[in-house]
Amino acid sequence: MSTPWEKKSSIEEIRTRFDHDVERFSQLETGQQATMDAPLVLELVAQAGARHLQAGDTILDLGCGAGNFTLRVLQESPDLNCHLADLSTPMLERAQQRVRESGRAKSVEIHEGDLRTLDFAEGTFACILAGAVLHHLRDDADWEREFTRFARWLKPGGRLYVADLITFNLPDVQEVMWQRYGTYLEGLKGPDYRETVFAYIDREDTPRSLPYQLELTRRSGFQAYDVLHRNSVFACYLAEK
Ligand SMILES: C[S@@+](CC[C@H](N)C(=O)[O-])C[C@H]1O[C@@H](n2cnc3c(N)ncnc32)[C@H](O)[C@@H]1O
Repeated sequence: MSTPWEKKSSIEEIRTRFDHDVERFSQLETGQQATMDAPLVLELVAQAGARHLQAGDTILDLGCGAGNFTLRVLQESPDLNCHLADLSTPMLERAQQRVRESGRAKSVEIHEGDLRTLDFAEGTFACILAGAVLHHLRDDADWEREFTRFARWLKPGGRLYVADLITFNLPDVQEVMWQRYGTYLEGLKGPDYRETVFAYIDREDTPRSLPYQLELTRRSGFQAYDVLHRNSVFACYLAEK
């Protein structure tokens, strides 16, 4: 990633890209294939969620895209009040339609806009899902402010589930892992696809390492965390309030 974070895509540029990419995020069986182990990660989040979610609980899906994480959680934990939040109107409309049509949600509410502008009362949610969205947070202040707000919005015992692109602290390890991701992308759709994905990550994303994020949860009001999965430049963890 050579583009400095101050020059990364603006919120408007990110919104426009996702407005035209709804179909790619609408496949529940495969998940988003540009992320490694997507179906496994959806399953792990849904199964871990089922251990603490009860019918009637309220959940929030940040950067919900077309709703895959909420839909998969509802398969294991029906009758939840689902709040879907995204920058992109076409994504939100698709997510709302899919969640309604699943017949498994108790209610569905949508929130359009940058997640940094959302606000909820303390203790609103039993669970917050953040699938492939937090890599759009930029500087340390941004990450710290949002994690503190997520903890505030959760009930005691509520959980934040994050599945995302991550970086590594040691440059040689970073290089190995990016090479492995490149090989994965090339195997999926060829070398041009690998270059396209690498280019938009460079232009758009500011991921953080797993240790950075786990330590941040401890400083932001969470009591415990666990890593559910990690493969190359992707990780999935939960943090409990
Ligand atoms: C890579 S997609 C992931 C979608 C979904 N969570 C999934 O895993 O299938 C990221 C989503 O986050 C949304 N997004 C990006 N930045 C955001 C922000 N600052 N606030 C709210 N949503 C955002 C995009 O519009 C897009 O729908």
